[in-house]
Amino acid sequence: MERGATLGAISSLSAISYGDLIQAALAARVRAHARYSGFRVGAALEDLAGRHHTGCNIENATFGLTICAERVAVFKAISEGARDFRRLAIAADTDQLTPPCGACRQILWEFCGDIEIVLANPQGKVETLRLKDLLPRAFDGSFLYNPNG
Ligand code: THU
Repeated sequence: MERGATLGAISSLSAISYGDLIQAALAARVRAHARYSGFRVGAALEDLAGRHHTGCNIENATFGLTICAERVAVFKAISEGARDFRRLAIAADTDQLTPPCGACRQILWEFCGDIEIVLANPQGKVETLRLKDLLPRAFDGSFLYNPNG
C-alpha cells in the first residue's frame, strides 16, 4: 500500500477488510476514556482468522496507569486466545498520523512480530509501515535463552 493513500483509494485498490480494520480503529477511538489529555486513540488488531480485536486508550487520574489503545487491543486479543496477527490499525484525530509509542512497539513485537502497522485519521489519510522499521534491532525472548547466540 502506497504511503499517504486515502481511504477511498484503499477501497478501490485493496481488500475490503483493510478498510474495515481502519473503520474499526476509528470507531474504537470514540470509546476512549481520555478525560485528562483529550487525545483519543483507537486500535484494531486483525488476527490470521480475520477477527478484529479493538482497543482504545484508557486514562487514569494517576496518569501513570494510563494504557494506550494498542496495548488494550493486544491484551484483549491474547486474553481471548488469539495468537497470530496480520496487521494493526491505529486511528487518532491528528493530521500528522499518530504512531505507536515506544512501550507499545515493544509489546507489539512480543506478541505480533513484524506485522503491518496502518496509521489513519478520520479525514482518510492513511500510511502503512512495518513494525521492524518502527522498532529496529528489537530486544525479545531470543536473547534471554540464547546468550551466546
Ligand atoms: N496514546 C495511545 O493510546 N496510543 C498512542 O500511540 C499514543 C498515545 C494515548 C495515551 C494517552 O491516553 C494519550 O494518548 C496521550 O498520550
